[in-house]
Amino acid sequence: MAYGWEGEKVRLVPLDRERHAENSVLWMNDPEVTAWTLSGDIPITRLAEEDYFNRMAGPLGAHPSDIVLAVETLSGEHIGSASLHRIEWRHGVAVTGTLIGPAGFRGQGYGTDAARVRTRYAFEVLGLRMLLSEVFAENTASLGMLRRAGYREVGRIPRRHWKRGVYRDVVLLAAERGESA
Ligand SMILES: CC(C)(COP(=O)(O)OP(=O)(O)OC[C@H]1O[C@@H](n2cnc3c(N)ncnc32)[C@H](O)[C@@H]1OP(=O)(O)O)[C@@H](O)C(=O)NCCC(=O)NCCS
Repeated sequence: MAYGWEGEKVRLVPLDRERHAENSVLWMNDPEVTAWTLSGDIPITRLAEEDYFNRMAGPLGAHPSDIVLAVETLSGEHIGSASLHRIEWRHGVAVTGTLIGPAGFRGQGYGTDAARVRTRYAFEVLGLRMLLSEVFAENTASLGMLRRAGYREVGRIPRRHWKRGVYRDVVLLAAERGESA
């Protein structure tokens, strides 16, 4: 039986507390995983994660502002998450976020495949037309992943966010429907 949205290496599936919550708590409290993310610097407790799951995996209605999918390998191992946030249905725009948790799965194309599947889902299934991402300039893995998945740089904000000791630049990227991936 087909389940979720499938790429070449991963499947994006609905969040499930039993399958995904425990890993999410572990990853979001791993300083290596959160080196270049905005969340995770303040401890993510089980209670906070439950609250997040209740909000993201609860009844969503027709036009939710966030859609969070778990990333699983084709054999069903949970390795991360791929999200659409701040969805503006009227404008067809959303902000994306990606996380590949286990170190052994990073840098092997899983993130790129997850981003490609998410783009296809956003454009072809949801009917959105533009995906935006904000990435720390130091996050070479994320920049490489997004470029490979069809995003291009559209701007930079110097000293945008405090992260690990200094104010750091943020790169703004966009992927538009109809542009080649
Ligand atoms: C960012 C992230 C989702 C990328 O996923 P991934 O599966 O590791 O990415 P991919 O394997 O598809 O590789 C993407 C590109 O980055 C490169 N790359 C991967 N890890 C890298 C690293 N540590 N340093 C430099 N380049 C790296 C890959 O070689 C590839 O480059 P290429 O396009 O030149 O071939 C993942 O590393 C991650 O979850 N990091 C922690 C959370 C995070 O920072 N999320 C993004 C917040 S904006």
